[in-house]
Amino acid sequence: MTRTKLLGAATFGFGLLLAAGSASALTIGFSQVGSEGDWRPAFSKDMKDEAAKRNIDLKYSDAQGKEENQLKAVRSFIAQKVDAIIIAPVVVTGWDAVLKEAKAAKIPVFLADRDVDSDPSLFVTRISADFNLEGRLAGAWLAQASKGKCDVVELQGTVGSAPALQRKKGFESVTALFPDIKIVKSQSGDFTTAGGKEVAESFIKATNGFKGICAVYAHNDNMQLGAIQAMKEAGLKPGKDVLLVSVDGVPDMFRLLAAGEANASVELKSDIGKNIYDVVEAYLKGKTDFPKWVLIPSDLHTQADAAAELAKRGLK
Ligand code: AHR
Repeated sequence: MTRTKLLGAATFGFGLLLAAGSASALTIGFSQVGSEGDWRPAFSKDMKDEAAKRNIDLKYSDAQGKEENQLKAVRSFIAQKVDAIIIAPVVVTGWDAVLKEAKAAKIPVFLADRDVDSDPSLFVTRISADFNLEGRLAGAWLAQASKGKCDVVELQGTVGSAPALQRKKGFESVTALFPDIKIVKSQSGDFTTAGGKEVAESFIKATNGFKGICAVYAHNDNMQLGAIQAMKEAGLKPGKDVLLVSVDGVPDMFRLLAAGEANASVELKSDIGKNIYDVVEAYLKGKTDFPKWVLIPSDLHTQADAAAELAKRGLK
């Protein structure tokens, strides 16, 4: 190689290095609900892992179940002039002011998982499952399993949260079609195992050992795990004496289904980081024609497919 060719090659290589070095990573703020059950930490881990894969500088904030912490986090993201903000809102209300502040600062906001009741023009889109459908799937499963006759106790999720509101509504929209299916008790267990156990214990006591109770519908698996503990302590056989249907499809629930100690769970996918960042990155590259809701499918699992589902995930 001549001296001139060598110099040319070196300059080209240096230019490429400079270009690679100057491609600045996106900075994204993510305000997460907390870590209330098994599903939420799985979702947080997926968001962090996927951000690392894409070289996204993720500013992660755990609100520990408090909306006031989320509002502070979002305001701090705005002050830091992040490229985009992702929010998984604890509850549906109280978002208007901060969403307007983000809009005024020209920072796009994306909702992940949970919904808000604000003006939809204040956020780009919501990437999430259909909680109402999850409630309907649970209700339809129970209607066939109980042959349309069942006294149900319900463990609700966090009061005012989108999944609690919609899973209740969806479930009731199906059970209303069956005059002999009744929700006889309903209370929030705040999506936690401890909360589910406490509420189930009080229901077991009030019904003299779940006398006449045919099913427990829990808005998430962790509350159902708590109810299962309470039932066992009261000498009941979960999944046999009482039908158990819940939502999330966490590994421990698949194990209980496979062991015959629970009956059905609607899986809420937690590995949705790729879906969320695909939308955010496409928006930041100039795509704007998103639907207001990018839907993630949910599906029902029972004792029949639990072992196969565990194997699919490489779990036992
Ligand atoms: O928003 C989704 C719900 O939040 C999950 O079903 C529940 O486990 C979590 O707390």
